[in-house]
Amino acid sequence: MRLHVAEHPLITHKLTVLRDESTSSPVFRQLTEELVTLLAYEATRNVRVEPHEIQTPVTTTIGVKISEPRPLVVPILRAGLGMLEGMVKLIPTAEVGFLGMVRNEETLEPSTYAERLPDDLSDRQCFVLDPMLATGGSLGAAIEFLFERGAQDVTAICLLGAPEGVAAIEKQIAGRDVTLVLGAMDERLNEKGYIVPGLGDAGDRLYGTV
Ligand code: URA
Repeated sequence: MRLHVAEHPLITHKLTVLRDESTSSPVFRQLTEELVTLLAYEATRNVRVEPHEIQTPVTTTIGVKISEPRPLVVPILRAGLGMLEGMVKLIPTAEVGFLGMVRNEETLEPSTYAERLPDDLSDRQCFVLDPMLATGGSLGAAIEFLFERGAQDVTAICLLGAPEGVAAIEKQIAGRDVTLVLGAMDERLNEKGYIVPGLGDAGDRLYGTV
């Protein structure tokens, strides 16, 4: 697994405002979108492209275009939905699939409650969006789901991660092609499975259900 933790003052600045409990939902949503666009820049570093000839006003030249099959962006419902706009802004031609995972707050185990994805993901580059990598349960299950459908390489983008979650993903996906891009690596999980210092419940903060 490749792990990339963003180190950029603009990302850290935006994350600081995001973490602040006094930040309102509209601002939280806006910042999430901006952060995802910045993280997507790193996450798409290895997006597959192919040569593409064009005519400029001056001459013909060979550039590149994103290869077929198009990349697939998969927000994990519900909180991952808040990351979708920022991602498709950067890759407007991407296809979007949805995966609904819930975490049982007592056992902390994930289960799938909704799925809208192509049947065959072979040869697809998949970009999974999940703001909080806490225990790694739902993200690990989502990545597993994509590999079972034939995905070849999966990149997960998370705003914050905990070391426990990163270790869990690493163990679960052993040997497969997974890249993890985090806005920041936080200290730990608390006894309720929340990331510390974290930002609280990302879904609640995005959608104002605090
Ligand atoms: N999910 C969240 O929204 N926040 C956490 O801190 C952990 C999981």
